[in-house]
Amino acid sequence: MRLGIIGVGHLAGSLLAGVRRAGWAPDEVLLAPRGHGPELAGRFGHALARDNAEVVAVCDTVLLAVRPAHAMEAVAGLGWRSGQVLISACAGVPSGALAGAVAPARVVRIMPMTAAEFGASPTVVWPDEPAARPFLSAIGTAIPLASEADFETATVSAAVYGWAQELIARAVEWSAAQGLPEATARQLVAQTFAGAARMQAESAAPMRQLLAELVTPGGITEAGLEHLRDAGALEAWDGACAVVLERLRGAT
Ligand SMILES: NC(=O)c1ccc[n+]([C@@H]2O[C@H](COP(=O)([O-])OP(=O)(O)OC[C@H]3O[C@@H](n4cnc5c(N)ncnc54)[C@H](OP(=O)(O)O)[C@@H]3O)[C@@H](O)[C@H]2O)c1
Repeated sequence: MRLGIIGVGHLAGSLLAGVRRAGWAPDEVLLAPRGHGPELAGRFGHALARDNAEVVAVCDTVLLAVRPAHAMEAVAGLGWRSGQVLISACAGVPSGALAGAVAPARVVRIMPMTAAEFGASPTVVWPDEPAARPFLSAIGTAIPLASEADFETATVSAAVYGWAQELIARAVEWSAAQGLPEATARQLVAQTFAGAARMQAESAAPMRQLLAELVTPGGITEAGLEHLRDAGALEAWDGACAVVLERLRGAT
């Protein structure tokens, strides 16, 4: 058995779709029996454990994807062994707390995104544990970080992922209200974000230079950016990032 999952909810459903898409055999994953575990095991042929202790008894690598408040109770007292690895996706739950509950197993923190479903999750990971790599490459691209403080800052991107989708939805709804067919607008706006993302991810030019080249003086991009600035929208974005980081640090 390759990977056990404790906490089979919304996120785990996307991660499972990602590993199946990457060609993992369904029974390479053992699911805990709560949440969507029984349904996904029945539908896709994943193995189903009797309880969390069986997941830990059978699997050397275990993914934890319960809500943060349930993390400690879900992993405590399960008979963890040396050489095992717990991969926690629980936002704001510090490694030290989990390490105490699963000793002598090692703890790795990750922050995946639901685009894992399409093999497209940019997943931050700390520390860079070799045992986690096959799973992280199945769901997208691993981004190793140097410290837990960096991991907390990088976790803000998990919220940015949601805000980007809010921006896409708003732009689509606005376009549809002007009469553009919604399905056309959805593809246009989503692919516009994907195109902008590829420019920033793949171009060798400095980030601000790429943007400056787009903002023709007196042009439409400049007009809209000025409006956003005057309305305080860009500063509000920075503020939202700060709110999330403060929340994550408060949880630790
Ligand atoms: N949602 C995302 O896109 C996302 C992205 C990155 C990280 N995360 C992190 O992933 C975690 C899960 O989020 P989610 O949105 O998937 O939550 P969710 O849909 O509520 O799923 C959590 C699952 O954990 C199960 N569970 C709770 N206590 C358990 C226990 N002691 N043993 C076994 N299973 C237990 C719940 O089962 P019951 O229904 O039986 O209670 C539920 O199915 C969170 O910590 C979050 O920070 C989420």
